[in-house]
Amino acid sequence: MSISRFTGIELGPPIEVFSLVKTFGDDKFENKVSLVMGAYRTNEGKPWVLPVVKKVEKLLAEDDLQNHEYLPILGLEAFSRLATVMLLGENSQAIIQGRAFGIQSLSGTGSLRVGAEFLARIFHYDTFYYSTPTWENHKLVFTNAGFKKGCEYRYWNAETKSVDIEGMLQDLRDAPENSVIILHACAHNPTGCDPTHEQWKQIADVIEQKKLFTFFDSAYQGFASGDVSHDAYAPRLFAERGMEFFCAQSFAKNFGLYNERVGNLVVVMNNPKEVAQVKSQLTLIVRGMYSNPPNHGARIVATVLGNDDLHEEWKDHIRVMSNRIKLMRKALYDRMLKLRTPGNWDHIINQIGMFSYTGLTERQVAHLKDHYHIYMLRSGRINICALTDKNIDYVANAIHDAVTLFADPNKNSV
Ligand SMILES: Cc1ncc(COP(=O)(O)O)c(C=O)c1O
Repeated sequence: MSISRFTGIELGPPIEVFSLVKTFGDDKFENKVSLVMGAYRTNEGKPWVLPVVKKVEKLLAEDDLQNHEYLPILGLEAFSRLATVMLLGENSQAIIQGRAFGIQSLSGTGSLRVGAEFLARIFHYDTFYYSTPTWENHKLVFTNAGFKKGCEYRYWNAETKSVDIEGMLQDLRDAPENSVIILHACAHNPTGCDPTHEQWKQIADVIEQKKLFTFFDSAYQGFASGDVSHDAYAPRLFAERGMEFFCAQSFAKNFGLYNERVGNLVVVMNNPKEVAQVKSQLTLIVRGMYSNPPNHGARIVATVLGNDDLHEEWKDHIRVMSNRIKLMRKALYDRMLKLRTPGNWDHIINQIGMFSYTGLTERQVAHLKDHYHIYMLRSGRINICALTDKNIDYVANAIHDAVTLFADPNKNSV
């Protein structure tokens, strides 16, 4: 065999979510349950194509004016305009004054990447801060975009199962000027715990005083509470206070358009006269990365947000999804109480969004997988809407068993 230049390449570590999904797929056990992937499921455990999305897809398929020409480098203008309004609100002064705009990008991840690349290349920012814990991809995205230093700020208090606001504020106060602070706009992944309105104001104060730069990650707007405005509290607060920031908007969860990669990078700045320059630099970044974004999903979102009836229909859908999540939170909580499972379970109903950070230990998580074929992240994060009327008793009994068998008085928070 001839020598290959590829010899000696190290095997990269697996991505936990995707590798668990693969193991789950290969598992032959009939009653297996996957609580892994962050995607909505119906009570039948199936993905849901939103009816309004299906309707618009049919309209588009019949529309002879549609074609497959390239979109502009910064994407579909109607989409990014409407998406930016969705984030900042109808009466946003930043939009009215022409100093806020969006560019279409490849879902939430792509928007984060383009924004991070801009901050690294153009501003030469090199330090970013993420919450402990956070969505596991933040580090990779920012590092690959050119950031040199990733730092943690305290976020989750395992004792109180809520936001460690004092720890968070202190870590932000200690951050060097121009550090980029990644903030989950709502439904923090994985903890499901958001700052209160009062705490958001404190966070904004520190970011302003210490001259830090905010990068919101908004992956769950509307999907979290069922109310688009409620879930946009933080970015709207920052905009109203005249703060400059980026926000990566994803339409994966709230439109169920996961694999269409629909996202919008929102830029809020102080001087409308600089918008053209910023856009031109973003254009160069996108051109050198993927040239231009795909049309299909963005066209669907633009059509829905741009039509009053379709928009109302979509609002019904996000209420259906968020209500089902709340229902399953309550269902799990009730069962834990009924089973008298040791510990306090209030966090299951207090957390928001599709995830619950259960507090299960790694040992308990392993037991659930090995013994019951119930899959979840090592951290104990579960996707609440993967619970159904059919599997909830099985899962609750299994958790009860794991917690009873492998109690950890120091770490086990359940
Ligand atoms: C916090 C957070 N940010 C960003 C994303 C990005 O998702 P996508 O790139 O599919 O829009 C996710 C998806 O799970 C997320 O949870």
